[in-house]
Amino acid sequence: MKRDFLHVSDLSKEEIHETLDLAAEVKARFKSRETYQPFAGQTMAMIFAKPSARTRISFETGFHRLGGHAIYLSPDDISIGKREAVKDIARVISRYNDLIMARLFKHGHILEMAQYADVPVINGLTDYNHPCQILADLFTIQEHKKRLNDLKIVYVGDGNNIVHSWLHLARRLPLHFVCACPEGYLPDEETVTATRAAGISRIEISHDPTAAVKGADIVYTDVWAPMGQKHEAAERAARFADFQVNSQLMAAAGDQARFMHCLPAERDVETTDAVMESETSIVFDQAENRMHAQNAIMLMVTGARTS
Ligand code: CP
Ligand code: NVA
Repeated sequence: MKRDFLHVSDLSKEEIHETLDLAAEVKARFKSRETYQPFAGQTMAMIFAKPSARTRISFETGFHRLGGHAIYLSPDDISIGKREAVKDIARVISRYNDLIMARLFKHGHILEMAQYADVPVINGLTDYNHPCQILADLFTIQEHKKRLNDLKIVYVGDGNNIVHSWLHLARRLPLHFVCACPEGYLPDEETVTATRAAGISRIEISHDPTAAVKGADIVYTDVWAPMGQKHEAAERAARFADFQVNSQLMAAAGDQARFMHCLPAERDVETTDAVMESETSIVFDQAENRMHAQNAIMLMVTGARTS
């Protein structure tokens, strides 16, 4: 049976820890410029229906450094669901390539792609979730906090795909996860309910960011208007005005708090230039770790682990 990585919860708790260990190992190899090429002779198709900087660069660079060749397919190359059916392109790509990484709009499309592809499929973001991001975030938190137990993660902003991935992680690792968002911008109710029902983590939804961030290990935010909904930016800016992560909010969190953002950030919108540039900000370590965590994920799903 081939493995896919479509949700953080596709991995067991043990596999999450294994992936983090592997990420640390491949990061050390990368930093020492060691030649390590378990994907020599292999190719990966990278399908992008939405824009990307980090995801494209980190996957393409990472797969190349691991010996493989990654092919970038822009939104116009395939036109998933318009020019070509998902189940057709999934089978075609499987005849050429060893691995698929896809960033799509509809979550149903990545599920269908995984169903029809004969090779592993990695989710590089859908409207529903962003699992590679959250594993990289976890790796970054482990590096900075030197622990994964007793973490209070407070996400401030839109109850979006990033939040759904945190909730999937909370089904595997015990977290105190708080989503502080305006009314009307809540995370998916079914996802919240299923995460609470898993009984592993404490999940809170708040509409008071100042109270929510108190004692947080991590204060996390993301854009107020996601890709595909930028036309709502002005309306959302008004609704989210009290949810900006600024210096006052970071002060309310306490000295232990670190600031995270999946990027790209709109400075002086969901967060401020001062917070982005502050000592508490770990956003660039977070961005770097996308590559190391994803290298580990690719090694995990293909079974090409390190020796
Ligand atoms: N965080 C993230 O996925 O960035 P990109 O949209 O630039 O890939
Ligand atoms: N929530 C954002 C994440 C970007 C990496 C979006 O979907 O646009």
